[in-house]
Amino acid sequence: MASVSIREAKEGDCGSILRLIRELAEYEKLSDQVKISEEALIADGFGENPFYHCLVAEILPTPMESQEPHVVGYGLYYFSYSTWKGRNIYLEDIYVMPEYRGQGIGTKIIRKVAEVALDKGCTQFRLTVLDWNKNAIGLYKSLGAQDLTEAEGWHSFRFEGEAMRELAGK
Ligand SMILES: CC(C)(COP(=O)(O)OP(=O)(O)OC[C@H]1O[C@@H](n2cnc3c(N)ncnc32)[C@H](O)[C@@H]1OP(=O)(O)O)[C@@H](O)C(=O)NCCC(=O)NCCS
Repeated sequence: MASVSIREAKEGDCGSILRLIRELAEYEKLSDQVKISEEALIADGFGENPFYHCLVAEILPTPMESQEPHVVGYGLYYFSYSTWKGRNIYLEDIYVMPEYRGQGIGTKIIRKVAEVALDKGCTQFRLTVLDWNKNAIGLYKSLGAQDLTEAEGWHSFRFEGEAMRELAGK
C-alpha cells in the first residue's frame, strides 16, 4: 500500500505547491486573490533569506505501483514574533486534496509544524481560518488550539495596494 511522507519542500515542488495554493483559494471562494507565481515562490522560499518554509505531503507508491511519488498536500509557515511571549510560528496555509482527506495527513502536517516550532524555540503556533470553515475549525480545536476571536475578541486587519502606498507616501 502507498505511504505518505511529510517532508520539507524543495525548489522543484513549487509548481505542485502553486497548484495546491490555487485549489485552496478556490475552496475558500477567494480565487481572484491569488497573484503569486511559481517564480516568486522559488525566489521567496529558496533564496538566501527565505520569507517562508513549506512542508509537503507526498504519496509514495509501492515499487509494484506504476505511479510516481506525488504531492497531495502542503503546509506553508513562517516565523513571527510576540512581544509578550517571544518566537512564534505562523501557519499561513494548510491543504490536503479532497480525495486524500480524512486519512490523518492534515494532522500529520500540523504535528510536524508543532515539532518545528518547538525545535526553533517558539512559544506559540498561530493560524487563521475563515469563520464558515467549520471542518478546519473543528480540527484545530480537537488538536487543542484556542479560538482567539472567541476568547479575546481579536480581529485580523491588512493594509494593501492603494491604502499601503498612501500610508507610505509612494
Ligand atoms: C483541513 C484539512 C487540511 C484537514 O486535512 P485532513 O488530511 O483531512 O485531516 P485529518 O485526516 O488529519 O483529520 C481531519 C479531521 O477532520 C475531519 N475532516 C475534516 N474535513 C474532512 C473532509 N473533507 N473529509 C474527511 N474528513 C474531514 C475528519 O473526520 C478528521 O476528524 P477525526 O480525526 O475525528 O477523524 C483538509 O480537510 C483540507 O484541505 N480542507 C480544505 C482546505 C482547508 O480548509 N484548509 C484550512 C484552511 S485554514
